[in-house]
Amino acid sequence: MGIKSKVLVVGGTGYIGRRIVRASIEQGHETYVLQRPDIGLDVEKVQMLVSFKKQGARLVEASFSDHQSLVDAVKLVDVVICTMSGVHFRSHNILMQLKLVEAIKAAGNVKRFLPSEFGMDPALMGHALEPGRVTFDEKMTVRKAIEDANIPFTYISANCFAGYFASNLAQMGTLFPPRDKVLLYGDGNVKVVLMDEDDVATYTIKTIDDPRTLNKTVYLRPPENILSQRELIEKWEKLIGKQLDKSTMSEQDFLSSLKGLDFASQVGVGHFYHVFYEGCLTNFEIAEHGVEASELYPEVKYTRMDEYLQPYV
Ligand SMILES: NC(=O)c1ccc[n+]([C@@H]2O[C@H](COP(=O)([O-])OP(=O)(O)OC[C@H]3O[C@@H](n4cnc5c(N)ncnc54)[C@H](OP(=O)(O)O)[C@@H]3O)[C@@H](O)[C@H]2O)c1
Repeated sequence: MGIKSKVLVVGGTGYIGRRIVRASIEQGHETYVLQRPDIGLDVEKVQMLVSFKKQGARLVEASFSDHQSLVDAVKLVDVVICTMSGVHFRSHNILMQLKLVEAIKAAGNVKRFLPSEFGMDPALMGHALEPGRVTFDEKMTVRKAIEDANIPFTYISANCFAGYFASNLAQMGTLFPPRDKVLLYGDGNVKVVLMDEDDVATYTIKTIDDPRTLNKTVYLRPPENILSQRELIEKWEKLIGKQLDKSTMSEQDFLSSLKGLDFASQVGVGHFYHVFYEGCLTNFEIAEHGVEASELYPEVKYTRMDEYLQPYV
């Protein structure tokens, strides 16, 4: 093994960012976390940053409104990982990353940049529905800026975070699993990929010093986590020792349900459509520009979905 890169995580107190900070420290990287003055009196974020420091991370003060501060921050490291927000019902600022790209370009020392992706591969979503396509379009805008600036990159296509898609058996409007009734999308047999978020972080950090992932998209597709909605439900039924009442929703009805929803809901529901009806996570072979994480890193003991669901029992 060569020398481990120094890593800066931007967005480190976020949902996936905090896990990436921990994985970076655990895998022995000198880890820096951006500390934004804008967090002000958000005591939860402050405490989290302090907890990272206790675990061995270094905090770097910089602001998206101060280009030079971002340049100085990225100059400290070899690898920058951005986990900027991108979920409409929480917070979404994907295009803010263009400022970070500018800073990385100006600094000129960064060996690898991982922008905030961590979902479906936006390059394969050119046909996506309005308005949800905004997520993919913005991620592609950031990719173009990275590639135009000749910044070495890795894009992580993490598929479905289990906390949003498995914990609730893919029901919308809740993050807990139902105990009586469950709605199936179509026949419920479309294959999706479900990922424990800590595993997303583990695989992400594995890629950063790996020449096989340079300028590639890394798909997280561990074979036992490629499941249909029905297979996921079966796992839950086994855990609780009970069959759920199942109803189904046709593709047509699902699409009609989009109308009249607020913008953030339409974005989310549109993404569900592509995942559960169209099968956009599994309906393609990984092409030349891509590699699969569990093949590259067979030593990672990834979490299976029955294990993920166990605490919800
Ligand atoms: N595959 C899936 O199922 C799935 C699910 C959810 C998200 N995602 C993707 O994962 C990525 C991260 O999403 P997330 O849910 O982890 O994000 P999040 O927790 O909502 O936010 C992440 C961080 O973004 C930073 N941020 C927010 N607003 C900012 C602003 N105005 N200026 C500068 N920084 C700002 C904050 O960084 P600080 O720590 O500095 O405050 C925040 O902690 C996105 O690309 C999203 O699309 C994928």
